[in-house]
Amino acid sequence: MASRHRLKATTAVPSKSKFVESIFLISQRFSLFTVFDDFLTMSIAACTQNPKTGKSWYEDEYMERIAKYKDSELRHEFSKAFAYLVDEMETRFSSPEGNDVLGEFFEQHISNGRNGQFFTPNHICRFMAQMTHDETKEMETSLRILDPACGSGRMLLASHKICGRGNEYYGIDIDLTCVKMTALNLFFNGVFGSEVLCANALLPEDFVISYHVSFLPLGIFKIEKKEESRLWHLLKNSLTEDVLRTNGSEIILDPTPFSERKKDDSTQLDLF
Ligand SMILES: C[S@@+](CC[C@H](N)C(=O)[O-])C[C@H]1O[C@@H](n2cnc3c(N)ncnc32)[C@H](O)[C@@H]1O
Repeated sequence: MASRHRLKATTAVPSKSKFVESIFLISQRFSLFTVFDDFLTMSIAACTQNPKTGKSWYEDEYMERIAKYKDSELRHEFSKAFAYLVDEMETRFSSPEGNDVLGEFFEQHISNGRNGQFFTPNHICRFMAQMTHDETKEMETSLRILDPACGSGRMLLASHKICGRGNEYYGIDIDLTCVKMTALNLFFNGVFGSEVLCANALLPEDFVISYHVSFLPLGIFKIEKKEESRLWHLLKNSLTEDVLRTNGSEIILDPTPFSERKKDDSTQLDLF
């Protein structure tokens, strides 16, 4: 992952997306990865207000991230990027390509497929979600849907659209930037009650941080202790039993294949 920290935009990239243009504009002086990751952190902070102070619950983190952008024009560009993102996601809400603007940016401009970070095209996400729906629609219980290597969370977005509310949606990713993208995607698409965990999904005790996407109170809330994460408990238990059944719900594992791959191995594309 170290290589992506060196990515730097030297010229503005012509794009139809104002969001993309905005992030590139800010990254004239900072690496693209730094700007994008700061944007995600600050956007999450902007989505949670402490009613007692009227400020974000994560005001300190926001201030720490914005501090290096001394130029006030650059600082204002972050709020513009936020507005452009919301606008673009809203416009594309019902489009066949989906509205994973963040994931597309990450895939095209930051990961470039490194570490297996290709994301599933939306029509395949919808197809898989439809299969899940068809196989489970007669069930009287709600579903618990998990993508254990969620990337930007687009499988979960498609599942929520097709399987609907009333189910539980969870994501795990080892990469914190991906976890933040998923949390924002779930929030902006109204997948409330969901949780995204940053951990190695293959290691029962691993826990970095988790984000709970909530409707009341409205926001994206950090869970910093693993014992307070519902998803961490579910993951831990699911790794010791083949199938975990709790409260009448079933765990459905997204069959996203993942294996250790050599750095230059591009066979990940074969998955699609
Ligand atoms: C091929 S992408 C798939 C993303 C998403 N499921 C989709 O279909 O669009 C694989 C993702 O798995 C994550 N990953 C790799 N190893 C992991 C592990 N051991 N635990 C959790 N996530 C992992 C990567 O960071 C990457 O975002």
